Amino acid sequence: MRQIIDVDVTTRRVDLVKCKTDMLAVGRFSDSGDPGPIIRALDEKLDGSIAWLAKIGDFTGKAKTYAVVYGNGRIAAERVLLLGLGERKKATLDTLRKAAGTAASRAVDMKIKHVSLALHPSFSRSFDAQTMGRVIAEGACFGGYRYDEFVSENGNGRAGSLAVEIIDADASQIKDLAPGVAAGTIIGRAQSAARTLANRPGNVIDPPALAKAAQEMVRGLRTVKCTIFDEKKLRQNKMGGILAVGSGSRSQPRLIVLKYTPARKPAKDLPTVALVGKGITFDSGGISIKPAQDMDQMKLDKSGAIAVMATVRAVAQMGLPINVLGVVPSAENLPSGTSYRPGDIVTTYSGKTVEILNTDAEGRMILCDAITYAVKQKCDVVVDIATLTGACMVALGTYKAGLMGNDDKLIALLQKAAEDSGESVWPLPSGDEYADEMKSKIADLKNSGPRWGGACTAAAFLRQFVGETKWAHLDIAGMDLFVKPTEYASLGSTGFGVRLLTTYLMNLVEKKH
Ligand code: BES
Ligand code: MN
Ligand code: ZN
Repeated sequence: MRQIIDVDVTTRRVDLVKCKTDMLAVGRFSDSGDPGPIIRALDEKLDGSIAWLAKIGDFTGKAKTYAVVYGNGRIAAERVLLLGLGERKKATLDTLRKAAGTAASRAVDMKIKHVSLALHPSFSRSFDAQTMGRVIAEGACFGGYRYDEFVSENGNGRAGSLAVEIIDADASQIKDLAPGVAAGTIIGRAQSAARTLANRPGNVIDPPALAKAAQEMVRGLRTVKCTIFDEKKLRQNKMGGILAVGSGSRSQPRLIVLKYTPARKPAKDLPTVALVGKGITFDSGGISIKPAQDMDQMKLDKSGAIAVMATVRAVAQMGLPINVLGVVPSAENLPSGTSYRPGDIVTTYSGKTVEILNTDAEGRMILCDAITYAVKQKCDVVVDIATLTGACMVALGTYKAGLMGNDDKLIALLQKAAEDSGESVWPLPSGDEYADEMKSKIADLKNSGPRWGGACTAAAFLRQFVGETKWAHLDIAGMDLFVKPTEYASLGSTGFGVRLLTTYLMNLVEKKH
């Protein structure tokens, strides 16, 4: 089996025109006649061919566009990749992240192994070097990602590795970028590992395999302890929700717990944060079976779980001084003679009973047990992340995850982390009126409510299990998959949530709020 492309990000102090590289990538804004000092310096050596491209309209710096100009021996680079940055006033950190991603993605497609990125000075005026280093490394890892481990034919093969470097003539700038590049590489690689795991299909990743992958993900990290609850232990603990959903499959369910205790003592006022991720390795709907169309995409129903696992790995690799508990319930939702059925009444780990009206509302049934576990472990904050409802996808499309919760400050922190990470969220309600819709006449709760507001009633259901603990819920249905490749993203899993959750924890530590 082929592995993912090894993306390595470094920094180098070198003069632009003297930079020897397979491809030199430079950005340009669309709304200014002046392309900036970098392109001006290059174009002087390239006899105005970049200006010519602009003049004939082939490359004007519009967002999502790019063009290649070939070297003429007067610059040390073999090629120049021009990246459209869009309008200057709309530029954010994500503009930079995506530009780095586009450069890495172009390099992979062109089978180029060494690409150099020159920073547009306009970014340096708005952002500090460390942050820029981080987002560039994140973007480079993201854009260089491909999922092809099961493609045996190698005739059109890609390279096994990609070297990306950020270049600048200023030594102090290079020095300031470096720590950010180190953090960004950790986060970017964790996200790539997450994408590969999520992309693996249901016949490869079942709940026991997901548990093994979790152990693998934190192997060698002394600060993380991984505990796996097998079916027997789930039964001993009366985790009825996880057991009910897992009952239809030959693959037994699991609860995966990743406990990160930093080597550096956390500041006293920092909360212990539990991250809870939905790990349905395949969601057929169960007895309430889904339509055949696009059912294959339900291999991605474990994306929340994997985001949690990869976040714990990134946080541990960075040695962030904050206590984090990753809690991942995992089951395969299949119809069979042993499945749970509509009408069943399930007693959850909390003791609350749930009337099952739809076996396809399985995510909340495993999450409620995992949330109860996190609360019992005395975590101060619980953030769950789940491909929970088609309704959230109807509401927000594929651009923003739904964000619900019971604490305004926590919600604001996650909104800030979304802005910083480029993984976008949008607030949705989950209050009492929605909770009322989830009351059953013959049990404490029912697992499926009326047709309207499905994302909100699902969140309101989960809220019943958090008690007084501060809690937020990320519904990432619709955010888990790129149906089509883009200029910086390859087809398949997005790895959504890894950057968002890691950034949330980094911001807590750095007190950026
Ligand atoms: N995993 C699905 C939600 C989903 C749908 C994720 C589409 C990504 C894309 C979830 O388990 C589910 O089936 N939810 C049901 C809930 C309903 C039965 C109350 C849904 O949204 O239809
Ligand atoms: Mn379902
Ligand atoms: Zn599901």
